[in-house]
Amino acid sequence: MEQNTQTDTIAVLDFGSQYSHLIVRRIRELCVHAELLRPDTSADRLAGFAGVVLSGGPQNLSESTALKADPKLYTLGIPVLGVCYGLQLIAHQLGGKVTAGNKREYGPVRVELSGKSELFKGLNTTALTSQKHHHPASEDGGTPPQLRRGEEGKKREELTWMSHGDQVTKIPKGFSVTGKSDACPIVAIENVEQKIYGIQFHPEVKHTEHGTKVLQNFLTIVGAKKTWNLGKNWIEAQVEDIKTKVGSGRAICALSGGVDSTVAAYLVHRAIGKQLTCIYVDTGMMRLGETEQIKKTFSKLPKLDFRVVDTEKEFLKALRGVTEPEKKRKVIGELFIRLFEKESKKLKGVNFLVQGTLYTDVITSGVSVGGKASVIKSHHNVGGLPKDLKFKLIEPLRDLYKDEVRLIGKELGVPEAIVNRQPFPGPGLAVRIIGEVTKAKLDTLRLADAIFREELITSGEAKGIAQYFAVLPDIRSVGVQGDARTYGHPIILRAVTTMDFMTADWARISTDTLAKVSARITNEVAGINRVAYDITSKPPATVEWE
Ligand code: XMP
Repeated sequence: MEQNTQTDTIAVLDFGSQYSHLIVRRIRELCVHAELLRPDTSADRLAGFAGVVLSGGPQNLSESTALKADPKLYTLGIPVLGVCYGLQLIAHQLGGKVTAGNKREYGPVRVELSGKSELFKGLNTTALTSQKHHHPASEDGGTPPQLRRGEEGKKREELTWMSHGDQVTKIPKGFSVTGKSDACPIVAIENVEQKIYGIQFHPEVKHTEHGTKVLQNFLTIVGAKKTWNLGKNWIEAQVEDIKTKVGSGRAICALSGGVDSTVAAYLVHRAIGKQLTCIYVDTGMMRLGETEQIKKTFSKLPKLDFRVVDTEKEFLKALRGVTEPEKKRKVIGELFIRLFEKESKKLKGVNFLVQGTLYTDVITSGVSVGGKASVIKSHHNVGGLPKDLKFKLIEPLRDLYKDEVRLIGKELGVPEAIVNRQPFPGPGLAVRIIGEVTKAKLDTLRLADAIFREELITSGEAKGIAQYFAVLPDIRSVGVQGDARTYGHPIILRAVTTMDFMTADWARISTDTLAKVSARITNEVAGINRVAYDITSKPPATVEWE
């Protein structure tokens, strides 16, 4: 693969929209490299990029604290595309005007786009006579775009997705209006000479019918090179890199059995073979059959030094009497690190640590300017090993998104079941058992969880659901089984649909499947006499119960 240089890369400035990452991903899907950068990245730095996209954002330009781009950006001569807040920012920073609209537009909006704009090539367009506003537009916001005489009957609209209250009411000098909607006379603007474009709708979300085409057209305007091809060439380049970096040294990898650490381990194994040791700390908190699957998967890799450390007893002991969720997470996280350190000390001459860090992990720590969110849960995963382990890090996936990692995993021959594995929290089933964790409770939950997962896969419904699992709460209820009174535990089923796990909705599982799962769990899992389905979105709930 050609090396990605900045001159082949699109910089996406993150003004805080929940879709900023999606812009980067869509551009990468079009085989062009894109990076997410801070909104205040200097124009000097941006000058090295092929093009710049200004993302949406939750702010309001009438407030003095509103985030702005370095104004010099607009004089660099590189193409700029503003999306939503990005469009408003362009208008605001170049002498136009943004005001609170009378009508808000949220959700699907039909817009008319000008057939003359390169940005809208191949879309449903109308012959909008886009007025050039060489001089300050009139106070009423400039002449709204008109249909050309005789074209009125040929109005062709595009279905887009919007989320805005403010709107551009006066465009900057040198710009023309290239789109409008019923509620908003200025939905798109451009200055072709300066290659500056702005759109009020979100091209990155799937609900905008031809959003990808708009992004493709922008990339054509940029003249961006298609250098982002994940596949054999990417893998070969990484393998060479890792070989050079490690030389005759040794590396270890803490395997969780999840997609990221497994793919990272496969990749590093391909590069350095027996110089890699993988350590799987079996906490005893995994789902049914998972540890066996991990052992089987890794036993197939030739020459790999693969070690399983059975630590179930240590974890159960440390968790004895612990009921408070945050305490539980801390106990597990700390013990995990201690046990991993103990194992790694048994190895001589190790100087590298392999981690499955993803682009989203790298970015959340440095780019977003949304301020510090309150700690809802202290996440623990094997990627969170402390840096003072005195190893140099190898993080071959740090430029990739999860779906890109899955692609690489497939290419490397990682088993489907792992490549497509749904996310699983670092502390495992411990955060799905409310109250104290015991071996008996773990076994009960494992079985109920396996039944739920099996039935969703059998019914074909699992495909549309991001995460699904069972929870064992710390309560009991009365039931009747075989004419006798029971006093057993309930099982809560949880299944969510989500794009990014920041927000989520409960999955509308068919009642047939729910009925089957309920019957099977109450019949097959001892001590369970009731099954409930969690119908809460996030917020106000979280995905996991602890
Ligand atoms: P919540 O419960 O916060 O979960 O809505 C959002 C997503 O994060 C996963 N999760 C974790 N992942 N370590 C992880 O690696 C953790 O400690 C952890 N806790 C929650 C959760 O399964 C969901 O996918």
